[in-house]
Amino acid sequence: MNQPDRTTSRIEVIFSAEVIAARIDALAKDIAGAGLERPLVVSVLTGSFVFSADLLRALHRTGLEPEVDFLSLSSYRHDTTSTGSVRILRDLDLEVAGRDILLVDDILDTGRTLAFARDLIAARGARRVVTCVLLNKRMRRAVDIEADYIAFECPPAFVLGYGMDLAHRYRELPFVGHLAPMEPKS
Ligand code: IMP
Ligand code: MG
Repeated sequence: MNQPDRTTSRIEVIFSAEVIAARIDALAKDIAGAGLERPLVVSVLTGSFVFSADLLRALHRTGLEPEVDFLSLSSYRHDTTSTGSVRILRDLDLEVAGRDILLVDDILDTGRTLAFARDLIAARGARRVVTCVLLNKRMRRAVDIEADYIAFECPPAFVLGYGMDLAHRYRELPFVGHLAPMEPKS
């Protein structure tokens, strides 16, 4: 199995659970100021399920009553040349026509996934599509898109935890981290 070995690499915290929680509360207050009517949160699976759940409850604390639905997308990723196309693995259950949508994803990287989801929802007649991501990898954009709300700028590393995976692992971690090789023992 080509799995990272917890004995030769360790996970370094980039954003702790406490830092994430505080940032999401501030972000929810910003979003509450955007004047979304009957907002429908569209969470892009799988990576954003933890972020979406926390954001949804932070929005509740601001007095909003958001609904939520899930869109499962897969993008074909290539290491350096991201020529990937995006595919719908599981579509929304709810109608978006005429509605104010808060589109939520974990990472804005090349931008293909978020642009695909935004265009799909707009084409179905949403009244407004506002985008929100946990992490922004600004340097890697291949498509001209910026998120309306960003929790954190992300360092140029492959990150995991807080819903995000490396080969299906680490989604359960309460923080965002990255794998760092362990110092060899001298
Ligand atoms: P994009 O279409 O290139 O913007 O890719 C965005 C998607 O790729 C995100 O929704 C993540 O699921 C995934 N992704 C990008 N970078 C990372 C990472 O560092 N860790 C885990 N998933 C990532
Ligand atoms: Mg994703």
